[in-house]
Amino acid sequence: MRRTALLILFFLVSELAAFSQAVHYLPEHKLWLLSTAYSSYAMGVSPEGQLQNLYWGNLLWRPEDVPPAAQHRDLSSFDPRQMMENEEYPGWGGPRFYEPALKITRANGNRDLVLRYQSHRMAGNDLEIVMKDIRDDIEVTLHYRVYPQEGIIRRHSTIQNRTKDSITVESAQSATWNLPPGSGYQLSYLSGRWAAETQINREPIQEGIKVIESRLGHTGHNFNPWFAVDRGNANEEHGSVWFGALAWSGNWRISVEQTPYRQVRVTGGLNPFDFSYPLKPGETLDTPEFYGGFAANGFGEASRLLHNLERREIEPHGAKARVRPVLYNSWEATEFKVDEQGQRALAEKAAKLGVELFVMDDGWFGKRNNDHAGLGDWFVNKEKFPNGLNPLIEYVNKLGMDFGLWVEPEMVNPDSDLYRAHPDWVMNFPGRPRSELRNQLVLNLARPDVRDYIFSVLDKLAGDYKIKYFKWDMNRIFSEPGWPEEAPAEQRKLWVQYVRNLYDIIDRLRAKHPNLEIESCSGGGGRVDLEILKRVEEVWPSDNTEAFDRLRIQEGFSQAYAAKFMSAWVTDVPNMNRRSTPLKYRFLVAMQGALGIGANLNKWSADDTKLATDMVTLDKRIRHTVQEGNLYRLLSPRANDVTANQYVSPDGKEAVLFAFRHSQQYTTDAPSIPLQGLDAQGVYKLESIDGKMANRQEEISGAYLAQYGLQLRLVGDYDSTAVLLHRVQ
Ligand code: GLA
Repeated sequence: MRRTALLILFFLVSELAAFSQAVHYLPEHKLWLLSTAYSSYAMGVSPEGQLQNLYWGNLLWRPEDVPPAAQHRDLSSFDPRQMMENEEYPGWGGPRFYEPALKITRANGNRDLVLRYQSHRMAGNDLEIVMKDIRDDIEVTLHYRVYPQEGIIRRHSTIQNRTKDSITVESAQSATWNLPPGSGYQLSYLSGRWAAETQINREPIQEGIKVIESRLGHTGHNFNPWFAVDRGNANEEHGSVWFGALAWSGNWRISVEQTPYRQVRVTGGLNPFDFSYPLKPGETLDTPEFYGGFAANGFGEASRLLHNLERREIEPHGAKARVRPVLYNSWEATEFKVDEQGQRALAEKAAKLGVELFVMDDGWFGKRNNDHAGLGDWFVNKEKFPNGLNPLIEYVNKLGMDFGLWVEPEMVNPDSDLYRAHPDWVMNFPGRPRSELRNQLVLNLARPDVRDYIFSVLDKLAGDYKIKYFKWDMNRIFSEPGWPEEAPAEQRKLWVQYVRNLYDIIDRLRAKHPNLEIESCSGGGGRVDLEILKRVEEVWPSDNTEAFDRLRIQEGFSQAYAAKFMSAWVTDVPNMNRRSTPLKYRFLVAMQGALGIGANLNKWSADDTKLATDMVTLDKRIRHTVQEGNLYRLLSPRANDVTANQYVSPDGKEAVLFAFRHSQQYTTDAPSIPLQGLDAQGVYKLESIDGKMANRQEEISGAYLAQYGLQLRLVGDYDSTAVLLHRVQ
């Protein structure tokens, strides 16, 4: 309600006052004000010509509150003014020694770069500010796009060498985000490792630099390119939160810096590690897009803003995209032992459960009987599929399901025909070992011939077979990232060009096969970021499908990414970490994303099958609310015996509450759970899926539910339930 009122107010105000257009310029102050329904962002040019950040935070209504950009005074010969000014995009030059947004070397060794405002262009919600070095024609265009309703600003930079000599870019950042000067801030970020991705960390920001990054070639399991900063007092519902997500699936870096002058700046873009990018005269370098926002109402609101942005502006079909279907994947059931008969048997059982998309995982191609051979040989294994894939696909389609196929196009096993034919296609340093991980090597996608070959392989598969969905895997990090065919000075471009070519392959594939859908998997959540999300319908958050572990992984995932994109399977127990949770618990955990089943259906009892069929039916009733709705994280698995999440449909008419109990201490009731996102004046009809709700009234007001909450009878270990709410008044 409050949000709707704010939105209406925002648009009223925009009608009345010119300054609240998304992008507004006050020429007398050389000041730009970018406005969203939730936040304002202001920049100005100082008398010296420096572009300074002047404001980022809650929505402003009075532009004259923002002071024009000023020139500071040196504090001492150790504390020059340049170190105290909130520069919007600092070059490395003059007496500046904080994290630069851009660092270059000229052909003659000169490395000084001081950027000054040059000109700007505005069009609709876009603003471009051109900066130029004080002496040379080295130009940087800062791009801003405002998403007024989503409360997000997108930034990136284009660096252009307009001089007559080559320059080498040594650090190219997308943006520096300046916070209001102060101390006592807190940083939230996501870290982890294989099978334990997206764990939330919160820690004080103190003087110095904290770096999260990937040097691994892909987005990485160890950190995800998302941050949130608050004043040390925010929680899910309250407090100012500045947040951002960097859109890049290669080496990236976000540094969070508190200077001795109480400045807090977040700088992110291409990782300067092993980076060197020559630009010949006239050439340009585009940095990744960095999305940033401000939420006045806690981490929950920050996440919801990002989720809305992803669903409306990032995902391939945007608002027109379909709700994710229920998927079955054979991997944990069969591993590499796939064949037509086995897949048919699983498909029959999956169809009976109500599955809509049947995906055959690894093992169907080349000599792929284990992970030692076959990667690169993307032709059907005749022993496993003597009649090719078509009979299976037709059968799956006849059962009413779409067909999906696993591929790992970026890789080769040394034991493959492709590698025997093209040993030079993998990234390598001549004369050095080629480190294998999972017995495989990484193809150098930066090479145009490799890029085109990979495209042709996938294009052929998508053309020859009725494939609705590729599960696109990437199962190792880079090593020996050499590109010997290029001149030595150009070789480090591999880090960037690899990623661009990956995007290019997917873009061409999608353009040619518009109905094709793709899942991004990288040994679990190794490639989850906003740029890959522009090209895929789902991402695989973790190879760890154990339901209790998943609660934490999903909690972290949901900080940055919407439930819709989160592929979530129900698998068999005891799972990889030897824990056994009930089937219902596993379903309810997975139904908080895009539901999938990855179990061995041949082993399921009649009771399991009945329960699963009911849960799939339930999923189809609630998935619109879960996937398209607003998420409220009510109780965190990190801090509580009971974990609870609530999803409210975009129109506010439906809601669903999921609750999980880890381990009850005998005689201790679960706490009542106050709900969020409901209209206090509304009345809701309650529907428990299993009679575990203690409240007896059929209809309850939003006011009561928000204050007193629901009482659930969650007992013993790994108990779980869900309650559906339908607004009746
Ligand atoms: C990776 C994926 C799994 C599965 C295997 C197949 O580990 O994350 O889901 O596809 O590869 O080899």
